[in-house]
Amino acid sequence: MRFPFFGKKDDGAGQVDFGHLPRHIAVIMDGNGRWARRRGLPRSAGHKAGAETFRTIATYCREIGLDYLTVYAFSTENWKRPPEEVEAIMDLLARYLQEAIETMARDNVRLKFLGDMTPLRPDLRALIDETNRISAGLDGCQANICLNYGGRDEIVHAVSELVRLGETDINEDTIAAHLYTAGIPDPDLIIRPSGELRLSNFLLWQCAYSEFYFTNVLWPDFSKEELHRAIAAYQQRDRRYGGVKK
Ligand code: FPP
Repeated sequence: MRFPFFGKKDDGAGQVDFGHLPRHIAVIMDGNGRWARRRGLPRSAGHKAGAETFRTIATYCREIGLDYLTVYAFSTENWKRPPEEVEAIMDLLARYLQEAIETMARDNVRLKFLGDMTPLRPDLRALIDETNRISAGLDGCQANICLNYGGRDEIVHAVSELVRLGETDINEDTIAAHLYTAGIPDPDLIIRPSGELRLSNFLLWQCAYSEFYFTNVLWPDFSKEELHRAIAAYQQRDRRYGGVKK
């Protein structure tokens, strides 16, 4: 479903031109732990709240007609966290996928997982296979969930694939075609909440010409209004891709 209204909308948070949205927004869902600590709650409660925010923002992105939303759910480095925290995140993902399997065809939302799925729990892998199967028959907004994902790992994986296939023509196109994101346009806008000013191994290849938006808001508090601010800021940017202003 496309957004029911077009043109500009000013909710005080930022004037968004809904006729010229970025095609692909990527988000580092950061700040869950601090959100929980400030409330005297366990870190898992922060991830639970973060998963709710993901639901809200993904639904809204579908409503406004965004083509791609990519989120960083679990990095190749996140295995260093305490096992109970890793388990809590995997449980939240499993619960989200169980619900998504029921609703994604109705909502015309495709799900894609970016990363190395091999070390994941068998129940989670089975849910991922099922959502991939359903997604293959859909053509709506695509939500990409980066899971056991690392930008460096992705590039190493792509180059290893090229070597394994005996490919001798190594160029930007052949590498891009073997990334987890093959066929997905690069993100136009990358948002990082929680005040951290780094990429943390997220979409290292794909971010070459992305615009960045940083905010101090913690991910569980991230709202549609905050998304409007990020898109409005993006729409003020002058993207030159190394060229000169026309
Ligand atoms: C970073 O915040 C967040 C994560 C490593 C986990 C993100 C996972 C979810 C939101 C849940 C599952 C997602 C979906 C798509 C249902 P942090 O823990 O590093 O926060 P901190 O820096 O404040 O400690």
